[in-house]
Amino acid sequence: MFKRIVLGTDGSEDSLKAARLCKSLLESDPSCTLVVLHAHKPFALVYGYDLEHSAIDAAAVDEALREAAQKSLEITMEVFGDHQAGVTGVIEQGDAGRLIVAKARDAGADLVVVGSRGLSGVTSLLMGSVSTHVVHASPCSVLVVR
Ligand SMILES: Nc1ncnc2c1ncn2[C@@H]1O[C@H](COP(=O)(O)OP(=O)(O)OP(=O)(O)O)[C@@H](O)[C@H]1O
Ligand SMILES: [Mg+2]
Repeated sequence: MFKRIVLGTDGSEDSLKAARLCKSLLESDPSCTLVVLHAHKPFALVYGYDLEHSAIDAAAVDEALREAAQKSLEITMEVFGDHQAGVTGVIEQGDAGRLIVAKARDAGADLVVVGSRGLSGVTSLLMGSVSTHVVHASPCSVLVVR
């Protein structure tokens, strides 16, 4: 039914559930392709102040953030095991919600899949800010996995 899917992942439990759902969609249709996207924010983008004159070792923090981003993508790709044909993993820099929507548009996706919640510990809300943005701005159908 769906031919081009974009999955947003932050490595959280909900996003891994979303990945497992994508796996079964791929298994049901071998012509279906999937882009697994993790958005990564470098330190300067998160805090946006003059790092040159800060006491913080921004390069070290950035390195740790890059490793964390790589890990988030890796654990998501592991869900697909040996069945990675048609699955492409990408890490892009910037705001997750915007990047997921842009990827859906650029890839001509017919489905975007995200988890309901992500890594943030706030449990009182049903959906996080990324999934909320994607539901509002996606050019195609969105599946929010919970
Ligand atoms: N950095 C990211 N890159 C790609 N997809 C992401 C990223 N962060 C979140 N997502 C997607 O959005 C889903 C919901 O996460 P979201 O970040 O909206 O919730 P949260 O972390 O619980 O709350 P918030 O970040 O708003 O405080 C995740 O399960 C994942 O599918
Ligand atoms: Mg989050």
